Amino acid sequence: SWRTPMLVQELAKKVQQPPSRYVQPEQYQPISLVDGAEPPEHIPVINLTRLSAADGADEGIKLRLALQSWGLFLVANHEVETSLMDDLINMSREFFRQPLQEKEKCSNVIGGKHLQVEGYGNDLVKFEDQTLDWCDRLHLRVEPEDERNFSLWPKHPTPFRFNYYPPCPRPDLVFGIKPHSDAGVLTILLIDKDVGGLQILRDGKWHNVPTSPHRLLINLGDYTEIMSNGIFKSPVHRAVANAEKERISLAMFHGLHPEKEIEPAAILLHEKQPARYRKSKAKEYLAGYYEHFSRGTRFIDSVKM
Ligand code: SIN
Ligand code: FE2
Repeated sequence: SWRTPMLVQELAKKVQQPPSRYVQPEQYQPISLVDGAEPPEHIPVINLTRLSAADGADEGIKLRLALQSWGLFLVANHEVETSLMDDLINMSREFFRQPLQEKEKCSNVIGGKHLQVEGYGNDLVKFEDQTLDWCDRLHLRVEPEDERNFSLWPKHPTPFRFNYYPPCPRPDLVFGIKPHSDAGVLTILLIDKDVGGLQILRDGKWHNVPTSPHRLLINLGDYTEIMSNGIFKSPVHRAVANAEKERISLAMFHGLHPEKEIEPAAILLHEKQPARYRKSKAKEYLAGYYEHFSRGTRFIDSVKM
């Protein structure tokens, strides 16, 4: 059925052209923007060692500026073991290389229905005319610990969302992942060190994120933009497809308890600076978020006052 499309990895083996469900409407097609994207030098880099040093005030100012103008930064000196990062990417590649039957043991389609985000598969398909991304995912819920659903976990359990972008013969027609901002508090992203594709929108221009080994990208999500009353940004980003190579990324999302209310922090508000976002519960925000994500629009725009 249209709600449970074929896995993109399988599709990529069979087709010469992406089927029409994957082709972006002409006005959104990525081609001109792929070549036209800004060079990566501009993306801010924050040195965590310097930030926590006694004389780290300058790095703190840099961090604040980065979050205000970009909503993200690349991390230098993160002290995460590089072998762990390599293992994660390699394990992820291994998972997606397995035969379909093996991966489908973690499928997000249960009883012929795809109702949940968690598990292995595609985006939630909410609308018949939804344009689909050229990407498969394994999405696992890690915290709180007692909500881990091990029936969806592969044999090598690791607490991340794994994104797998197969090569696409026409990267000018599809997105690996369509333009969006993340919903939660913040996201830690580990990106493929060889194959680029992630781009950030800032001031109407797309910026390529550099592929360098063992770098982490930290980006804010909508909750933080709301809580900071718009002082910090939740950046719009996307991944473009690659004609020849597969690409892997691992995203760790930090969210909030479903009953928690998200609203601008009272300390930031005064007469001349009223709240710019309406209050909502995390679970309601997420429901709206996925609905909008499917459409390629941003839910945060509809909670703006
Ligand atoms: C994402 O936005 O979830 C994935 C980004 C990427 O693949 O680099
Ligand atoms: Fe994202």
